[in-house]
Amino acid sequence: MVMKRRIILFSGKGGVGKTSVAAATGLKAAERGYRTLVMSLDIAHSLSDAFDLPVSLHEKNRGRPIRVGDNLWIQEIDVQEEMERYWGEIYKYFAAVFRSAGLQDIMAEEMAILPGMEEVVGLLYLNQYIEENAYDLIILDCAPTGEALRFISLPSALDWFMDKLFNFERTVMKMVRPVAKSISPIPLPEDSYYAAIERLYERLKGIDRVLLDHQVTTARLITNAEKVVLKETQRAFMYLCLYEIAVDAIIVNKLFPTGVADDYFKKWVTTQAGYIEQIEEYFAPLPIMKIELFDDQIVGLQGLARMAAALYGELDPTDILYTRKPYEFMSADGGYVLKIHLPFADKEHIDLYRDANELIVRIGSFKRHILLPHKLLKARVAGAEYRGHDLLIRLEHPDDGSSTTDSSPPPEATSTRA
Ligand SMILES: Nc1ncnc2c1ncn2[C@@H]1O[C@H](COP(=O)(O)OP(=O)(O)O)[C@@H](O)[C@H]1O
Ligand SMILES: [Mg+2]
Repeated sequence: MVMKRRIILFSGKGGVGKTSVAAATGLKAAERGYRTLVMSLDIAHSLSDAFDLPVSLHEKNRGRPIRVGDNLWIQEIDVQEEMERYWGEIYKYFAAVFRSAGLQDIMAEEMAILPGMEEVVGLLYLNQYIEENAYDLIILDCAPTGEALRFISLPSALDWFMDKLFNFERTVMKMVRPVAKSISPIPLPEDSYYAAIERLYERLKGIDRVLLDHQVTTARLITNAEKVVLKETQRAFMYLCLYEIAVDAIIVNKLFPTGVADDYFKKWVTTQAGYIEQIEEYFAPLPIMKIELFDDQIVGLQGLARMAAALYGELDPTDILYTRKPYEFMSADGGYVLKIHLPFADKEHIDLYRDANELIVRIGSFKRHILLPHKLLKARVAGAEYRGHDLLIRLEHPDDGSSTTDSSPPPEATSTRA
């Protein structure tokens, strides 16, 4: 009897083979004796098809874990079902998100980065299963866009919300609602919205620690040896780094077997070889795992077992395949440097904000709050540059001799495009 606590996230563009690889990984882990759940957060579910489940079985258990073999369950999150069944607050949470347009700007901004429903429901289940110790391994088959990975930021966004705004906002609303209701041009949020968010917060408590624990959670990115797909993979990698989720493998799927004789496919083989070289360059020293395009689609236990064998061989799929520190503080030139491993961010616009006790790094609609160590609480952002795969942020104390240039007040926000 093996006992373990592992979460593996699979992410990648639509069609690259996420569901197949997630299912194959689950099958392999279950064979090794781990109680395994493969959970799909993609609205375009295909998990039950990958396992070739009879439609009736799937229909009867819509949205719930279905046992598909020894130690192995699958679950396709169905928001419609969830709303009817348990999670009235999910609806209210979204109502609150929409209402936020009428609230303070800063809150609307914070709300705008919150993730979608499948992801929220997925997180709720994840937290529940972890508390119940229901599985040794939970595999998440994530939605295809990089944006979907934002669900990882939900616990910290809610933390922020609860900490900074929630109680104040709620109290104010309680006081003004009776008066303002009759005169306000916009509908004011009911107290039940706040109660719903509070419950959601309670239910998600602790999940961020689990997701950020590199001994528990790792992400594996699935890609194909194609230009467009590769780009998306780089973006997803960057977001995961930003959120401090450990990526422990890149899986290149659907490679043409090098032995194909046909001239028509020879061209493909050469093209793919070029991209594999790039992938190895880009993602080194991460392990790059390769799977060939099989002679048929991957359906049913046999197909999945074949894929699992090609992918893991004798490897335990629950092993942590690679670890690296996502960021570190270092002293340098009398000041400090925060080094964030953030590959592929060099072409993006990065905003840095200093807040009371944290540094906020923003790339597009993604945002990361980094708590500053005590000794840096008074430090200001003196500059930022992109070097190699790292973003280096220089932090200085206001009275440091090392601040050379100007005496004007420290900038609130620094933008960088390295
Ligand atoms: N290595 C492979 N060889 C052959 N067919 C594959 C391979 N990987 C995936 N497929 C097939 O490609 C299609 C898309 O795969 P899927 O896992 O559903 O992708 P995603 O979940 O990323 O959208 C499916 O029909 C699947 O059976
Ligand atoms: Mg899929």
